[in-house]
Amino acid sequence: MDYRQYIAEKICVEGMRTEEIAALLAVPPDPAMGDYALPCFRFAKVLKKSPALIAQELAAAIAADDVIAEVSALNGYLNFKVNKAGMAQDVLVRILREGERYGASRMGEGKVVCIDYSSVNIAKPFHIGHLSTTVIGGALYRIFTFLGYRAVGINHLGDYGTQFGKLIAAYKKWGDRETVEQGGIHAVNDLYVRFNSEADEAMEAEAREYFRLIESGDKEANALFDWFKSLTLAYVQKIYDRLHITFDSYAGERFYSDKMEPVVEELREKHLLQESEGAQIVDLEPYGMPPALILRSDGASLYLTRDLAAAIYRYNTYHFAKCLYVVAYQQNLHFKQLFKVLELMGRDWAKDMVHVAYGMVSLEDGAMSTRKGKVVWLEDVLTRCVEKARAVLEEKNPSLENKDEVAELVGVGAVAFGALCNNKIKDIVFSYDRALNFDGETSVYLQYTCARAASVLGKAAAEGLSADTVPAVAPCAAEAELLKQLAAFPKAVEQAAEKYEPSVVSRCLLDTAKLFNRFYLECKIMQAEGDVRAFRLALTKAARTVLKNGLALLGIGVPEKM
Ligand code: ARG
Repeated sequence: MDYRQYIAEKICVEGMRTEEIAALLAVPPDPAMGDYALPCFRFAKVLKKSPALIAQELAAAIAADDVIAEVSALNGYLNFKVNKAGMAQDVLVRILREGERYGASRMGEGKVVCIDYSSVNIAKPFHIGHLSTTVIGGALYRIFTFLGYRAVGINHLGDYGTQFGKLIAAYKKWGDRETVEQGGIHAVNDLYVRFNSEADEAMEAEAREYFRLIESGDKEANALFDWFKSLTLAYVQKIYDRLHITFDSYAGERFYSDKMEPVVEELREKHLLQESEGAQIVDLEPYGMPPALILRSDGASLYLTRDLAAAIYRYNTYHFAKCLYVVAYQQNLHFKQLFKVLELMGRDWAKDMVHVAYGMVSLEDGAMSTRKGKVVWLEDVLTRCVEKARAVLEEKNPSLENKDEVAELVGVGAVAFGALCNNKIKDIVFSYDRALNFDGETSVYLQYTCARAASVLGKAAAEGLSADTVPAVAPCAAEAELLKQLAAFPKAVEQAAEKYEPSVVSRCLLDTAKLFNRFYLECKIMQAEGDVRAFRLALTKAARTVLKNGLALLGIGVPEKM
């Protein structure tokens, strides 16, 4: 039941539509005042009466019923108390009925959202700096899907550029098939690093030649490139699997090799292209930005050129309602320029493109560094966190079965949650100990709360008690607070999508867990009897459903026992 809507329909104010009144209904900070309140101040002018009088007259005109337990007027506010037993039933019945779908909606039906995330670079380290784009993108992908959109997950691979010429030159000089096959992406990266520190002018020239060969379709050069690419993708796939990340498209920068020329042509035709020191640029000075570099003086395309072609391709292919780029804030200017150039080209959908920027992640013990050899690989962070999680579990619950599997869910979840629990633009310093604190604002706290609820439900089931019937019981304060929080989950999911901010879901889950644990400590569940026990079991199941659904949206698994 939509309480706002129900209450709003009872209120008649001249010149106001029901929806407008519903939007004005606020939740008073003190539940003793009421569950909903309508401030009457803004009606005073039109109705030519004091807010206090308006509130009194409105209160007198509304009768209590099954839903509205009490109506009163105080200081210009019209206060409503809803029937708590009714509300409780309403919320619980809905959650138990909808189960895994609770929080889902059809609001996005018929609309496509393209989401560009993770977008790894071939033959380069997949490092801690890729954590946020990967897990925030993955969470947005699931959130939009949950809301009925068709999400298209795109891994815009960094597979274009002179560095691949360097890599081939390095491989030819120092590499061999066996070492690379065994060492995989690490061996490939080593070659690249070695090139950068040891290559002389002759090797640089060779690298340029190899790059030219890739471009011109040379068989051998392309075979090597494809090999490096498949090694990289096989490697990152293992990490994606652990983080529950999927994609619908791996069309990377190279995919646009033959799609840039028409774009450059169009820019020229529209008189947007200018020559500057031999290069082709779009002047963005009137918009307070440096020029957008389209072609270098040697005719080579740039990252921006490929993004222009990619955006146009995406629009033509998917007819997106939104196109999101989950990319670090360091690229703010790049995306501002990209969107501006598209706008100047007359693409009115440029307004539907969004740079979903996020902050930096560093490790407490060893800052992220891109300098040679100092990179923190994401895989190592996952491995380390899983090891630590294993140790924590061993200490907390030595008799736990499947410790390895639980440690994997806890450890990987903790790393992901590190990038999902705070406002995404904030820089974060990841600490293993903080992330694995059972009592902190952590994923392990959420997982543990879920397991606690599961254990109660397991005991109930063993005694033949159902958690699926919802008797009419007036909830106590702890129960009512939890119920309100559970009722707020669908809105949180919607807001997370609206703001491109998965942390709205994370925060909602942390609040839910806190209120569930308070309820768990204050209210006896299994020691209660009859309707009260049945009600509490249903509430426990509903809380677990919300926690599970929310964690699933974040890509975090839930162990049955912990
Ligand atoms: N591969 C790029 C990088 O690591 C990110 C690509 C983001 N997506 C895009 N369409 N530009 O910086």
